[in-house]
Order: sequence, then C-alpha cells, then structure tokens
Amino acid sequence: MESGDSNPEALGLYMAESLNKYRILYCHMVEPRINPASEKRETPHGLLPMRKAFRGTFLVVGGYDKEEGNNAIAKNRADLVVYGRHFLANPDLPWRFKLNAPLNKYNRDTFYTPDPVVGYTDYPFLEDTS
Ligand SMILES: Cc1cc2nc3c(=O)[nH]c(=O)nc-3n(C[C@H](O)[C@H](O)[C@H](O)COP(=O)(O)O)c2cc1C
Repeated sequence: MESGDSNPEALGLYMAESLNKYRILYCHMVEPRINPASEKRETPHGLLPMRKAFRGTFLVVGGYDKEEGNNAIAKNRADLVVYGRHFLANPDLPWRFKLNAPLNKYNRDTFYTPDPVVGYTDYPFLEDTS
C-alpha cells in the first residue's frame, strides 16, 4: 500500500528470521516488483534469502504460470505457489493445469470494482466453454 523501505532485502530477511522465534507455521510472500504491465517479475528469485531463512512452510505469489510454478517447487524455491489473477479468471485452475487446457484471460478493468460486482465469480468453467 505505497509503503517502502530503504533496504527491503535486509528488512525481509530480518522479518523471516524473526518469525522463526514464534514458530509461525507459514510465511506467504509476494515476489518483489511485479510489473503489472508485463506480468513478469523484474527481480526473479528475490525471495530466496527469506525462503532459506524461514523454517516453516514458505508460500510465494506473483506472476507465476504453471511452468514457473512447477519450476519453483522443483528447485525448492517455495513449498507452495499461489495464483492470484489466473485463479480469479479460472475457477477450475488446477483442473486446467492438469489438462494443459487454455486459460481464460483475466480482465484488468474489473479488478477492484465493487459496483457492479463483475469479474469475481462469473468467469466460465472449462465445461461451459467447450
Ligand atoms: C482483484 C485483486 C484483488 C486483490 N486483493 C488483494 C488483497 O486484498 N490482499 C492482498 O494481499 N493481495 C491482493 N491481491 C494481490 C494478489 O493476492 C497477488 O499477490 C497478485 O495478484 C500477484 O499474484 P498473481 O501474479 O498470481 O496475480 C489482489 C489481486 C487482484 C487481482
């Protein structure tokens, strides 16, 4: 929410290490500097130091597709990968990943719109589109 820090890497590392003291079960971090225009992260693997420092389950989100998500798990960069926009637009996202089916494209114009309430529960399931 517009907040910043002069040394975000050190702060993130300190936070991850501090959580260990309280035996926090999981830590869920958003990849730094997602570029909304390009959909891609400007600093890939920026969370690795925090992942290594935190002793619980580590979740990441931000700009992942199926392949990159699988890759992050295979390379042990996270325990779980979270999907935001793709899940919003694809209520059956795991099923689509399993089938290698095409994804609905999310509509940025309906993000954060309270009235009318569109773009949250009205994207089609796979069987509806065939
Ligand atoms: C419509 C919309 C609403 C969101 N609301 C929240 C929120 O309330 N809290 C939050 O931490 N992140 C929120 N996010 C950010 C997502 O949780 C996620 O971090 C972001 O979309 C990046 O992941 P992605 O590339 O998989 O979409 C929202 C994203 C979208 C598109």
